[in-house]
Amino acid sequence: MTKSAEQPTPSVDATPDVELARAVVAGLSQPQKTLPCALLYDARGSALFEQITALPEYYPTRTEAAILAGAASDIAAHTPPGSLLVEFGSGSSRKTEILLEALPSLAAYVPIDVSQTALEDARARLAGRFPALRIIPIRGDFTQQLVLPQTLAKRPRLGFFPGSTIGNFAPLEACALLRQMGQSLGPCGRLLIGVDLQKDLARLISAYDDAAGVTALFNLNLLHRINREMGADFAVDRFAHVALYNGAEGRIEMHLESLTAQTVALGGRRFDFAEGERIHTENSYKYTVAQFHELAAGAGWTPRRLWTDAEDLFSLHELTPHDAHP
Ligand code: SAH
Ligand code: AVI
Repeated sequence: MTKSAEQPTPSVDATPDVELARAVVAGLSQPQKTLPCALLYDARGSALFEQITALPEYYPTRTEAAILAGAASDIAAHTPPGSLLVEFGSGSSRKTEILLEALPSLAAYVPIDVSQTALEDARARLAGRFPALRIIPIRGDFTQQLVLPQTLAKRPRLGFFPGSTIGNFAPLEACALLRQMGQSLGPCGRLLIGVDLQKDLARLISAYDDAAGVTALFNLNLLHRINREMGADFAVDRFAHVALYNGAEGRIEMHLESLTAQTVALGGRRFDFAEGERIHTENSYKYTVAQFHELAAGAGWTPRRLWTDAEDLFSLHELTPHDAHP
């Protein structure tokens, strides 16, 4: 049977103007100003994230790719022909190619992302490399219930949530998200999830504060986005990227620090910044294997298999629902 690639769902817009404005105003109105990290991924943000993945300091991507390459045949052996591969926060889908290579009999690949450009670029590249693969991109929010075409509803589902994107959620939200993914993947679903591990501080900090300054551009791009999409007047050069490790919470934090006292006009409101005041833009939680197993178990998942690298930098977990057979 010849299978064809499909266009991204045109009508789903995860961050329409009103939603963006509401999220930004709400975040900047709090005593500790914050912005949701999902807003980092407009077209330029997605492109900058791709650059980050190739930085010498940013170990997660290449480490996870190597783990996947070693685990792919094992994963394929447990994946029935005709399954759906559903990826949450697929971005460029580059690491996915390792799985797609090992899983030639998939019914379809379903990448889900808020970034339209990332989905389109990935679809075009994958359609060239895997011409027989049916691709069903969904532009939307992966925290919401997945709705698939009726013809595919009964297919076994393998969920893929790589990159340690789970680390961008605080533990309670992460638990709710894993539970939601369980709903989306169904009682026979499995979840392959990449989780960054706790490690020495210097390595962690430099991964989020690289010498070339790409992560700084990624963080500051959020202000450019708000200026462009909300008509705000952030003087972006009067903010600086800050990456720090919060030991009590076990997470890297990204902030944007105001270099001067200043006022920003945005959505008909004015927001004052003191010199040194920060906007908290992202958390990136790091786990031990035991901590992640506890989180997954609390969300209804049983850890089945685990792969790590020789330095224990990163982990890849296979999870099944509590009441599923191994
Ligand atoms: N999976 C890729 C990309 C990780 S970057 C990798 O491992 O390299 C995180 C991706 O998740 C981005 O492409 C971003 O656009 C997407 N994303 C973040 N929050 C999202 C949400 N709530 N719903 C859908 N996609 C989201
Ligand atoms: C997508 N996410 C898991 C990345 C991370 O490492 O938290 C985003 C990122 N932020 C700065 N560098 C990369």
